[in-house]
Amino acid sequence: MQIAGIPRVRLANLPTPLYEAKRLSEALGGPHIFLKRDDLTGVGLGGNKVRKLEFLLGEARNRGANVVLTAGAPQSNHARQTAAAAATLGMEVHLVLTGERSEEFRGNLLISHLLGAHLHFVTGKTMDEAVARASDEMVRLAAELEGAGKEPYVVPVGGAVPLGSVSYALAVLELMQQANDLRVRVDWIVHATGSGGTQAGLLVGTRALRTGIRVLGVRVGYEFEPFEERVSEQANETARLLGPKDVTFRSSDVVATRDYVGEGYDRPTREASEAILLTARCEGVLLDPVYTGKAMAGLIDMVRKGRFGRGEVVVFWHTGGEPALFAGAEVCGPYLTAG
Ligand SMILES: Cc1ncc(COP(=O)(O)O)c(C=O)c1O
Repeated sequence: MQIAGIPRVRLANLPTPLYEAKRLSEALGGPHIFLKRDDLTGVGLGGNKVRKLEFLLGEARNRGANVVLTAGAPQSNHARQTAAAAATLGMEVHLVLTGERSEEFRGNLLISHLLGAHLHFVTGKTMDEAVARASDEMVRLAAELEGAGKEPYVVPVGGAVPLGSVSYALAVLELMQQANDLRVRVDWIVHATGSGGTQAGLLVGTRALRTGIRVLGVRVGYEFEPFEERVSEQANETARLLGPKDVTFRSSDVVATRDYVGEGYDRPTREASEAILLTARCEGVLLDPVYTGKAMAGLIDMVRKGRFGRGEVVVFWHTGGEPALFAGAEVCGPYLTAG
């Protein structure tokens, strides 16, 4: 893979830790579960977007940008990490958030505010309408900023573009080096998949390095359909950016389950709450209710159903998101916040 020509800024604390979650593996009766702690990438409490932002803001810097814009929900991890990365680099940042301006800032929204992000709220009768308005508002804001003599750069929502996925292809190299040092052979990667950008990168990395690892995404919402097709296209474009010509994907190469979404994105489930409590109490590791809690609920259920061999090594890739734990009962559900 070639990365030499792709601009990058250094933001993340790398490599993130990889270690066996022995008590969790034991509590479930095998396989060997390892945690890859991308919640510890640093920069505004970390998460998977910090890796993506190294390349996205690398491009922004390369183009001479001094202002960053992006969009998301008020509790968006992506928006919070973008605000943190921009503050780290001394860039102005504007977040267009789909929702009412709240009286009290909590969770991710509080952190984005603390980091000095300019917050713009847009609403719509439906979520789709609000999202469409957010993207119009970004175009309008970018023009306004340009008019004021600034150089804006729009970070795609969720960093869900091939340039962002490049970071996760490289993260597989990091994983392989660590696994090698620990003398373990990884059989599976299990992770929360939203837009599929992280998954696309992991697919490219695991295939290009001929690791034989199976990547299993646990979906957190019903959006982004047709999911497998979109992720395979993104993986192909990511591979094109990185060079290896023999790495191509079809939608059947993308494995993602929708079984643990529950009512929908951002809607708490009892199973995710149980997974959060088990992981916290076995390992001292916090997961979040929107992404990693659902992914761990999926992993636990699939272990129980015999999806993995007892002796196999499953890396649970922790993609962050813990600030949602401080977003209140609406996001966390009744099971976590009751005393
Ligand atoms: C904590 C967390 N995990 C997973 C994801 C999903 O990442 P992707 O959109 O690359 O699938 C996100 C995206 O917002 C996230 O914030």
